[in-house]
Parts: sequence; structure tokens; C-alpha cells
Amino acid sequence: MAIPVLKGKTLLLGITGSIAAYKALDLIRRLKEEGVDVHVVMTKSACQFITPLTVQTLSENAVAIDLFSLREEADIGHIKLARMADLVVIAPATANILAKAASGIADDYLSTILLATRAPVVMCPAMNPAMYENPATQKNIEILKGRNILVVEPDSGSMACGEEGRGRFPPIDLIIEAISKKLTPPTWKDLKVLVSAGPTREFFDPVRFISNPSSGKMGYAIARAAIRRSAMVHLLTGPVSIPPPYGVTIHNVTSAMEMYNRAMELAPEMDIIIMAAAVGDYRPEKISTKKVKKTEKALAITLIPNPDIIAAIGKIKKPQQITVGFAAETDNILENASQKLIHKNLDLIVANDVTRPDSGFCVDTNRVKILLRDGSILELPCLPKEEVAEKLLDVIEDLRRRRDGI
Ligand code: PMT
Repeated sequence: MAIPVLKGKTLLLGITGSIAAYKALDLIRRLKEEGVDVHVVMTKSACQFITPLTVQTLSENAVAIDLFSLREEADIGHIKLARMADLVVIAPATANILAKAASGIADDYLSTILLATRAPVVMCPAMNPAMYENPATQKNIEILKGRNILVVEPDSGSMACGEEGRGRFPPIDLIIEAISKKLTPPTWKDLKVLVSAGPTREFFDPVRFISNPSSGKMGYAIARAAIRRSAMVHLLTGPVSIPPPYGVTIHNVTSAMEMYNRAMELAPEMDIIIMAAAVGDYRPEKISTKKVKKTEKALAITLIPNPDIIAAIGKIKKPQQITVGFAAETDNILENASQKLIHKNLDLIVANDVTRPDSGFCVDTNRVKILLRDGSILELPCLPKEEVAEKLLDVIEDLRRRRDGI
């Protein structure tokens, strides 16, 4: 996903003795792909489920297991590991490690590190549903949350032990997002943000529609970036085939009129509104209730204009609200974008070159220029959409700071 906050970070991953320990291998691989330096501490029980050699090979760092190992502890390794980490993650976390951490017990390598570290901590419980639901475990989780430890809720479903319930190892993407959030300052806490994404579909009969190739990737990346900064995010999305980001309130719509109606309901409550959706400018005047039959003649469809959503929001916007548009352009990019900035009463617009194969619709990267009302322009090189999203949020944050004198 190329999440900027992860790149170059040092992470200490604790693996404890759960059948889900094998899933930690995939987590290591994904973290390495994000440019994270992963150091692993395994409990002795974890070594019953997966081998330290596999972990060492994937993490490309020595694995720590034994607190009293003469070699590992020659330079007081547990204190060094506890100090060097930007973040400590326990995944999977058994009921046992939750209990030890909650009580401050330090009787092996991992529990000693948990006591010795000053780094933020994320825990991903995974265990039998009865053990997870047990009041003792729940109490320990509450204690840990109270100490500002981020506890990722386990998934529900069928378990290796044959039972059904909550206790499954959470999806890797959710853990990666939790880690990213814990590493990001919560600068958008208490802010309500509306992000639109994806295409709209304008049907002219029950099975055919006019649309565009928007995948939702740009808008979804913005929603994820805002979640990482601890905003309350409403994602207003047209039909796409990518999974929704964790932690957003999702509003699914199909047509531009549906998007307009929902946006107008939500907008008054929002602090920041970012329209990355590729909204259909026109819709068929008539929608046939039956499938239009094929003939040898040309088919003419009369299109009528859809309301301009962000322009309508621009007319009712409160002084403290920030509205951001995108301009998908094929020519006169800067000129067209700056006209939209003014006509739609936006605070800033992202001019998007959609002529290149590495930019615009469907691809994972984008080439944009961010235009502000004071005439300043931030020109970005071709970047992953995740990074474009972060840069855009930085610009918005800076604008709010200058405007509100925060
Ligand atoms: O989804 P991806 O595959 O990742 O692609 C990303 C993207 C190319 C769709 C995105 O980066 C982008 O450029 N989105 C804006 C597309 C667009 O509709 O541009 P526009 O120039 O036609 O519209 C200008 C602005 O007005 C946009 O913020 C648009 O959301 C908004 N608009 C447009 C029409 C309309 N009826 N109502 C609107 O609010």
C-alpha cells in the first residue's frame, strides 16, 4: 500500500503461543514490503507453532527468545530492543500475555520488553472464543486500553479449535492500519471529514448505464489517511471493487443524484469536505423500465445535466469549513483547475493530469498539482496515491493552522 509513516520505522514484533502464530509470518512480510525494520521476539510457546528460523529468514534479523541467553543478552539485549523500537506490536497476543502485561509481570523476554519499553504498543488478541470472552481477559484488555495500548479487536468466525465466535487473528490490512495510526500524531482528532470516491452510474434502462473508469483508489487513500490522523471519516462512494477502509462510516450510492442528496445531508456537519469522486456530469433524461431492445437504427439518448455537488456545497458552506475539489483534466490543466477553484468556491483544488498511464483513473499512482486560492501551487511528482493523500492532508492541515492561528 506504500503507507509513508511506516517507511524506515523500527518495529518490535512479539509473537506468542497461539495457533494464529503462523499468520504473523504474513504480517512480517507485509511490514517488510512497507519498508519497516522488523525485530521479532518469540515466546517459548510460539516456537511450538512456528520455527524461529522461518521468522528470522523473513524478518532478516536475529530472533530473540531466551532472556538468559549468554549470546543474545551479552549487551543487555532486552533493554536495547525495548529502546530501539518506534513501536511494539504483539500479534498474536494470547490471554496469557494480556494478563502478564496488565499485571506488570516480567518473567520472559517478551513480557520484560513490554515493561521496559517507552514505545507505543499495539496488541492483537487471538484465542479461543471462551478465553477471549472470559471476564478476566476482558478486564485485562480494559486495563491495557486504559494505558493507551491500542487493542485490535479479533475477528469472528470458525476457529481452529472447532468453535465459532470472536477470537480469530484480525485481517493483516487492519493490523497494518492500526500500526500506522498508532505511529501518526492524532492531528485531526474530533474533525469530521467527508470524502467522496469512485464513479457514478447513470442508468438509461435496468441493465445499462453511462459511467467512467474511476476505481475509488484516490478517494479511499484519502479516507485512510484521514483515519490515521484520527478524524471521523464519512466515505461517500460510488460502485467500486476495492474493500472499504477500516474505521470509516460508509455511504454507498450509485447515481450522481443519490450522491448529491447524501452529500447535501452530510455536508453541514463536516469540517472538511474532499470530493475525489468522478461524478457523472449528465444523466439520461428518461430511464426505461424495460431493457431497451436492439434494432438496426442508431440509438439517441438525451442527457440532462446533474447538479454540481461540490459547487452546491460551496454555496452553503460555513466560513470555518474547508472544501477541496479534484479536477480531472486532459488539457490546459492549470487554467481549467483554477477556474474550477473559483467557480466552485473551493479552498483548494487538486489538478489531476489524466492523460498519462501512471496518473489518474484506475492506477495506483497519481500526478497532481495542488492549487490554493492565494495563487500558490504545490507540484508533486508521480507518487503512490497513498502518498498523494498524505501530502494533500498536510496542505489542508497547514491551511487550517494558518487560518485559525492554531
Ligand atoms: O478513482 P481513481 O481510479 O483512483 O481515480 C482518481 C480520479 C481520477 C477519479 C480522481 O483523482 C479525480 O480526479 N477526481 C475528480 C474527477 C472529476 O470528476 O473531475 P471534474 O473536473 O469533472 O470535477 C471537478 C470537481 O467537481 C471534482 O471534485 C468532482 O468530484 C466535482 N463534481 C463534478 C461533477 C458534479 N456533478 N459534481 C461534483 O461535485
